[in-house]
Amino acid sequence: VCALNKVPIIWLELADCSGNSEAFIKSTNPAIEDIIFDYVSLDYHELLMSASGDQSETILEDIITNQKGEYILIVEGAVPLAIDGKYLRIGPKGETGIDLLKKCAKDAALVISVGSCAFDGGVVAAYPNPTGAVGVAQALHRDDIINLSGCPTNPTNIVGTLLSYLMFEELPPLDKFNRPLWAYSGRVHDDCERRGNYELGEFVKEWGDEGAKKGWCLFEMGCKGPYTNVNCPTMKFNGGTSWPVQAGHGCMGCVEMGFFDKFANERKY
Ligand code: SF4
Ligand code: F3S
Repeated sequence: VCALNKVPIIWLELADCSGNSEAFIKSTNPAIEDIIFDYVSLDYHELLMSASGDQSETILEDIITNQKGEYILIVEGAVPLAIDGKYLRIGPKGETGIDLLKKCAKDAALVISVGSCAFDGGVVAAYPNPTGAVGVAQALHRDDIINLSGCPTNPTNIVGTLLSYLMFEELPPLDKFNRPLWAYSGRVHDDCERRGNYELGEFVKEWGDEGAKKGWCLFEMGCKGPYTNVNCPTMKFNGGTSWPVQAGHGCMGCVEMGFFDKFANERKY
């Protein structure tokens, strides 16, 4: 891939907190500036682009009209479907999120959903889900959407998937939820640095107790690492600085289907 054939990217933010965009711009390997100067052309990103209002609309219309089948659509955020999608309106014309998504997805070469909200509705779809939020694949009734779940998704997993598609012109092997196996097959519990404490029965019993100070296992404080499959312990966040368990908080299983009601809320469907 050279600077002359950079792939255009449309990055939509639907019902979300921008957490995945925040994580993405902290990509360190390669650095975010290398990605956007050398490999992709991040033409439309509501959080990062300098254009706004009608000017940003013009950019978007230009890509989807003149670069059919060439651009990649990345979607962050859930898709509210209740009352005809009117809980989410975007842009000067007040287009609903679902209409904007359909319009951008129609002629995209590839659609990637980033974050747990785009995966299955995530926190936005948590009980009682008043806006009728769903993930991108469900909203579009498509089974070819690449999912990179996480709250937020590790930027390494976004960049790795994107660059592998650009360099090899094919997608890596995927799991049953269309997530790359290289990122989503290892169990958090198996690569956790506190696993030795788990085996020895050394558990934190209360926040701030002696075990917490010694960095013991967080299973009895609700850690869902044994039920979660992703590469957080090895990839870590912020350029390999840390990850939830290292920071002293148990894993919430944020990459798993329905994680908020199932794990974080301890509510069963
Ligand atoms: Fe497993 Fe969580 Fe304990 Fe780590 S802290 S060993 S992931 S239960
Ligand atoms: Fe999410 Fe657990 Fe990783 S909460 S960020 S999958 S350690």
